[in-house]
Amino acid sequence: MSVAEQLDTVLITGASTGIGATYADRFARRGHPLVLVARNRQRLEELSARLSREYHVKVEVLAADLTAPTERAVIERRLAEDQAIGILVNNAGMGGGSVLAQTPPDAVQAMIELNVTAPSRLVAAALPRLVARGHGGIINIASVLALAPELFGGAYAASKSYVLTYSIALNKEVAARGIRVQCVLPGVTRTEIWGQSGGLDAIPAHMIMEVDEMVDAALAGYDMGEVVTIPSLPDIDEWNRFDEARRRMAPELSLSVAADRYKSDIPEDA
Ligand SMILES: NC(=O)c1ccc[n+]([C@@H]2O[C@H](COP(=O)([O-])OP(=O)(O)OC[C@H]3O[C@@H](n4cnc5c(N)ncnc54)[C@H](OP(=O)(O)O)[C@@H]3O)[C@@H](O)[C@H]2O)c1
Repeated sequence: MSVAEQLDTVLITGASTGIGATYADRFARRGHPLVLVARNRQRLEELSARLSREYHVKVEVLAADLTAPTERAVIERRLAEDQAIGILVNNAGMGGGSVLAQTPPDAVQAMIELNVTAPSRLVAAALPRLVARGHGGIINIASVLALAPELFGGAYAASKSYVLTYSIALNKEVAARGIRVQCVLPGVTRTEIWGQSGGLDAIPAHMIMEVDEMVDAALAGYDMGEVVTIPSLPDIDEWNRFDEARRRMAPELSLSVAADRYKSDIPEDA
């Protein structure tokens, strides 16, 4: 972590429990002042009291529903204007129903508002200021389902693919301007999110990571400068090969002629 970044305030969404609350604990332990965002003010205040007591850092609580445009706008304004905020952790997210045919349109939209629209808007609000000051960090929490939509998750997996693609594009644009971008792809992590979407009981124990282990690994990846961190993947070359295969296609993804396999084999004068 650079000296310039060390005392930056960190704004964390979805900080009232689970992965976000664990990020709050770890950044406070590192000495960062915090701004914690979620809907449940009481839980945020309890966490804030514990963190300021244990780590002697300033912790501010902003209760907001990130799917409500007027409440989200307060967070956007703060990110656009507060020079002290140098790191944004886009963590708030929800499951969206695993069976597409049984998921009502409003539920799909609510999930997209939280998992896709909110992080995109928060980055858009913060970015001009971060670029102007020339240093900062953006951590976006996706999911391994971004790489494995067949496993589970329907539109939820797609929302996390968006977060991955968005983070790669964002990194391309801002890495050279002093902004560190990291996309974290957790596997199954023991948090309350599983309360909403069926529970962890059906999942083999060897696939479930404790939240402390997940966040500590993700922060180690951040410190190493990784753009994509997959906490449980034993061999990072697996990801590197996948990414390389994608990049190898790039020169041929837009050409003036269609591929031979799409051409009729019937001669024109027949
Ligand atoms: N746990 C996993 O297995 C797993 C795996 C891969 C990816 N992830 C991703 O990791 C992130 C964190 O998940 P988690 O497992 O920690 O979930 P969680 O325990 O359910 O926590 C979600 C957090 O988001 C907040 N939140 C929910 N809706 C919100 C809204 N409308 N506006 C503002 N805040 C809202 C919740 O607080 P309030 O209720 O107080 O608003 C809570 O702090 C999510 O993006 C999730 O998709 C989780």
